[in-house]
Amino acid sequence: MVQPVLKWAGGKRQLLDELYARFPKNYEHFHEPFFGGGALFFDIEPADGSINDTNSRLVNFYEQVRDNPEVLIDRLREFKDPESDPNPSRDYDETNYKGREIKNYYYQQRALFNKRPYTDEYDPLEEAALLLYLNRTCYNGLYRENGSGGFNVPIGSYANPDWVQAERIREASSVLQETEIRNDDFEYITDYAESGDLVYFDPPYKPMSSTAYFTDYSADGFGKEDQERLLDIAAELDAKGVNVILSNSGVMYEMYADAGFHVEKEGATRAINSDAENRDEVNEIIATNISSGARKSHGQTSLGKF
Ligand SMILES: C[S@@+](CC[C@H](N)C(=O)[O-])C[C@H]1O[C@@H](n2cnc3c(N)ncnc32)[C@H](O)[C@@H]1O
Repeated sequence: MVQPVLKWAGGKRQLLDELYARFPKNYEHFHEPFFGGGALFFDIEPADGSINDTNSRLVNFYEQVRDNPEVLIDRLREFKDPESDPNPSRDYDETNYKGREIKNYYYQQRALFNKRPYTDEYDPLEEAALLLYLNRTCYNGLYRENGSGGFNVPIGSYANPDWVQAERIREASSVLQETEIRNDDFEYITDYAESGDLVYFDPPYKPMSSTAYFTDYSADGFGKEDQERLLDIAAELDAKGVNVILSNSGVMYEMYADAGFHVEKEGATRAINSDAENRDEVNEIIATNISSGARKSHGQTSLGKF
């Protein structure tokens, strides 16, 4: 059980028990095509399989964690407190892309992170180090980009931020050794996953009220057409004998139920004192093609029943 290295929006640490409750008795390889912080992957510590994300900086980060953990840790140890003065020995702009003055070390690193891919200086290890430094020192650990792809989250307020995360990097590196790391659209999985494998899909979604009409809502550029494409891919994998587990917004309930998936509202199984009012607040689903009899947890008595 390894802790995720990055904080990531939509992280699934709170949902792990519900996800494990749907796991099949056995599976071959594990795949996570919408990786983000990879909370489930790191908790499972799979021996191999694939992870994927469209965010190329995130993908580069995990490649560096896998291939160069000690160099990455050494580089991270050189970073300074985010509130300290900018490092005068580093080449940096004194104003950011909006023309505002760069006042402290955090904003200098952010400017360097945003400038790097567009210059000859591009260095994948440096970019990975900057990503983790910013992730651990920015406001709320958010990753957010402006329209031109620049990371634009302001400085956070932490008493003792730890941006080195040496043990987590070493552990994550060892888990990732035999993992295929991809920077692709999630559809790669149709060619990649084989019968008997397990795929966990965690697409971008925003919890919405169950009465909201789902039109072209888009988070991370993931809209209605992508959601429909995802359902088709999940159905294709099902036909191929691949185990599929998927978390999504509550408004997708009927779409997955109509397609024959077992769908449950998240929270319904663990709510001991559930009442109608609380149920209305549940706005997240887990859908799977794994029937209850084929699950590892089948036959176990849930603590919630006592
Ligand atoms: C909800 S987050 C995943 C969170 C993750 N399960 C965790 O525990 O941190 C969704 C991720 O999907 C990625 N993404 C967005 N569109 C994608 C696409 N078309 N194909 C693959 N990944 C995509 C985003 O960059 C984001 O990192």
